[in-house]
Amino acid sequence: MASVTDLQYVALAVPDLAAEREFFGQTWGLTEVGEEDGMVYFAAEGMPHPYVIRLRRDDERKTDLVGFSAASREDVDALFEQVKAAGAKIIAEPGPVEGLAGDYGFRFFDPDGRAMEVVTGGAQRAHRTLGKGEAIPVGISHVVFHSPNHPALVEFYQRALGFRLSDWIGDFMGFLRCNSAHHRIAVLPGPPALNHIAFDVASVDELMRGLARMHESGIHLSWGPGRHTAGDNTFCYFITPNGNAVEYTSDLEHVDEATWVPTTYQPGPNTIDQWGTGRIITGNVPHAEMTPDKGLWQVPA
Ligand SMILES: [Fe+2]
Repeated sequence: MASVTDLQYVALAVPDLAAEREFFGQTWGLTEVGEEDGMVYFAAEGMPHPYVIRLRRDDERKTDLVGFSAASREDVDALFEQVKAAGAKIIAEPGPVEGLAGDYGFRFFDPDGRAMEVVTGGAQRAHRTLGKGEAIPVGISHVVFHSPNHPALVEFYQRALGFRLSDWIGDFMGFLRCNSAHHRIAVLPGPPALNHIAFDVASVDELMRGLARMHESGIHLSWGPGRHTAGDNTFCYFITPNGNAVEYTSDLEHVDEATWVPTTYQPGPNTIDQWGTGRIITGNVPHAEMTPDKGLWQVPA
């Protein structure tokens, strides 16, 4: 079975592009790398992906596209056959693609109507090892989706894109990997929507420094600081000026593909927040999207 090799980018549309652009480029710590046809691109300093966030302006906040990397054109073609066999609606068959993401790919809708791209051949960006205390994203870490049929969506990503199951929390949250990182996608129940986008920082030290910088920048901490059980990663969650939930995370577990056996963790406060520190601040709770994403079933630019 063919597998995608990484989560490559998330493309978002927002009403206040200037505010979101300033947030990702100045406050959050991504690097703006280009602007073309109304799209603004941001890369992460520690990762070779050409970009990890794409923004454009729209009257409503919505998720335009989620991009995954493939290792070769042959893998793109094999992944396309898997996606088709899994019953997905195709947007564009494998072929040359425009832009920075890569030179060959295809697009499809997942069963909830999220537009997705599988792409290869992107120019790998010169990246660097971040300095100690440099509290900016090393790279994009994972996305979490809500789905009205979340067990079926967990199964779909395995069949279509070659993801492997890492763990479950009860029957509530499924975690999927496409490389050694414990999860690049996780799926929760709920209306079809994006729950959050996570970015790796170098360690818990940078997580705490990033938390302080967000506070000083007037960006409200919505949940954290804390440490999850599935994936063993630390977390701080924030809401961007346009209402997108973003996470700084560190120390995400790496999985040995040959020996890993998925665990089903007992749901509970100490599972999602093993230190208990996420509960200290009253009203500081996990983010949940309550309405369907406005971008579902829309062919993206
Ligand atoms: Fe997360």
